[in-house]
Amino acid sequence: MSHKVAPISNKLPVFMHGADYNPEQWLHDPRIFAEDIRLMKLANCNVMSVGIFAWSALEPEEGRFEFEWLDHVLDTFAENGIYAWLATPSGARPAWMSQKYPEVLRVEANRIRNLHGLRHNHCYTSPVYREKTKIMNSRLAERYAHHPAVLGWHISNEMGGECHCDYCQAAFREWVKVKYGSMEALNHAWWATFWSHTYTDWSQVESPAPHGENAVHGQNLDWRRFVSDQTLDFYKHEVLPLKAANPELPCTTNMMDWFYGLDYHKFAEELDVISWDAYPAWHEAPSDRNVASWFAFNHDLFRSLKKKPFMLMESTPSLTNWQAVSKLKRPGMHKLSSLQAVAHGADTVQYFQWRKSRGASEKFHGAVVDHVGHEHNRVFEDVAELGKTLGQLTDLIGTLVPAEAAILADWDNRWAINDAQGPRNSGLHYEETVMQHYRALWDMGVPVDIVGSHDDFSGYKLLLLPMAYLLRQETGEKIERFVSEGGTVVITYWSGIVNESDLCYLGGFPGPLRTVAGIWAEEIEGLHDQDRNALVMDAGNSLGFEGSFEIRELCELIHTETAEVLAVYGDDFYAGRPVLTVNHFGEGQAYYLAARVHEPLFYQLFYAGLVEEKQVTRALQSKLPAGVTAQLRTDGDTDYVFLLNFSGTIVTIELDGEEYENMESGDVLSGQVELPVNGACILRRRAVK
Ligand code: GLA
Ligand code: ZN
Repeated sequence: MSHKVAPISNKLPVFMHGADYNPEQWLHDPRIFAEDIRLMKLANCNVMSVGIFAWSALEPEEGRFEFEWLDHVLDTFAENGIYAWLATPSGARPAWMSQKYPEVLRVEANRIRNLHGLRHNHCYTSPVYREKTKIMNSRLAERYAHHPAVLGWHISNEMGGECHCDYCQAAFREWVKVKYGSMEALNHAWWATFWSHTYTDWSQVESPAPHGENAVHGQNLDWRRFVSDQTLDFYKHEVLPLKAANPELPCTTNMMDWFYGLDYHKFAEELDVISWDAYPAWHEAPSDRNVASWFAFNHDLFRSLKKKPFMLMESTPSLTNWQAVSKLKRPGMHKLSSLQAVAHGADTVQYFQWRKSRGASEKFHGAVVDHVGHEHNRVFEDVAELGKTLGQLTDLIGTLVPAEAAILADWDNRWAINDAQGPRNSGLHYEETVMQHYRALWDMGVPVDIVGSHDDFSGYKLLLLPMAYLLRQETGEKIERFVSEGGTVVITYWSGIVNESDLCYLGGFPGPLRTVAGIWAEEIEGLHDQDRNALVMDAGNSLGFEGSFEIRELCELIHTETAEVLAVYGDDFYAGRPVLTVNHFGEGQAYYLAARVHEPLFYQLFYAGLVEEKQVTRALQSKLPAGVTAQLRTDGDTDYVFLLNFSGTIVTIELDGEEYENMESGDVLSGQVELPVNGACILRRRAVK
């Protein structure tokens, strides 16, 4: 049965293709805007994000607003079939505001207030900043909420950062009070008797500081949660006047790759559509497998936030100016990189930026229109060409990614892991661990969701818990249910160690996962960078592969309770003790991996077995060449298979016996497909499931 979700905007139910556009930088020369309109059409662009960082142009003096230039931009767009994501300008504020109201500026953890400058340099709590934002957003909404060119709202820009001013301290105290209710509860959760850190009054509670409190992990964790909540509260504050004027217009804010500072799972509940900014540094190595899989992971993360198509709000049409080395995109890479986003669920391809600015810090950042000012160059042609391709993909709009595998990745887990002292302060490498597991699935073209512990696991067959260090009791129960009902879970070392307050579980690790894993973990040791151990597969184990695989960094010494041993340590005083186990629990299985295996081959063999045995959905049944992935979107009637070649070489991909149609050329295919270096193609087939 055909199943698609509604397009991001009914006004433009096709692929959105466009860029951040800052016409306010060019108001002194009206010819530029006229030329931009001509070029936008030539580049097959249908959408622009306008007004980001335009506060000074919109309110040059306190209370004096100038909207005529924006009227002209939006009206002209409407006449030319171009649409706009209209931004609220709160990502940067005018100098007059910082000067008159210093409280709008951020205070750093050292308690020193920043000077005016840069962007993202404001307090999310300041009553003045909130009031000024409300006035600005109300004016914008009043004027443009029903403008024919406006598709939706782009709230601020890449929200992030924290402020330690007195307003924020008061808000943190209030947050803590609401959460804990009593000093006893607070002191218990923060284990405050340690080093005599017991609080006797709410007024003593402060944000962590380099020259003050930073040793109380529960407090650090709550501060991170507060910062995330307060930022989200600011987002909601921004949205109120916009929704009041027109509840139909979708709101979003552009996110960043697995951004550390904000719990995007919580943000997802408030945003109408997820959007994010992807800046892969392609061509660092002969094969782009590592970079590609990291961005694949992120696309999956952003899609999974709402289990719906997302927006690629920014990407560079050529190079960035802030990476260590700015490599140009090799031929083919612009299309490959853009279609990668689409393959994982993007229904838009947008850039930073439309026209290169003439001065200041981003004047050398890639843009569709370069300083030369015309369309006769490689980047412009690539963009225009991609616009044409996207124009052929309208059927894909609203289709979903049918993932049956998922990885659990909670923000508070990540915060807690990185804050902990021990067992390896020279690098616990949580993110790398997640990627080791993810990459094996990417290599096989297995669609994967990245979920939080509040998500529903019941639709998955395979659930991965890499370093689920902070794990709530109820999450443990949910995982038990998942496995007992037939799911397969893979749990690694350093899981089930602390509860939501960062307090260690008593009575044996992995805490709430102990029963389902059928093991308990007695000790863990960190290895020096040069230390090695090995995982040696037991002969005749149920996974069906043998061999010895190098271990680095972390080794947990576990005891089986109800689990069976699949592999043992090869070295050191714990040689021969279990390192990989499986526990049969209800209808399902829980695997436990006690050490960080270094070799990708181990993960490939391990997951290939599980995917095969559990019949986990793959985009294509055949084996893919290294550095190539296949990804899948579907509406239930038609499957769209993306073949993406990041290997740096020409490859031949075996199709799997189904009949395919190349969506761009219309060619009917079966057998083999050859892809050039940086090649990408989209094949259509009748839905397999
Ligand atoms: C971010 C910002 C943009 C721009 C780009 C440059 O994504 O949102 O304003 O600075 O980076 O890569
Ligand atoms: Zn503040």
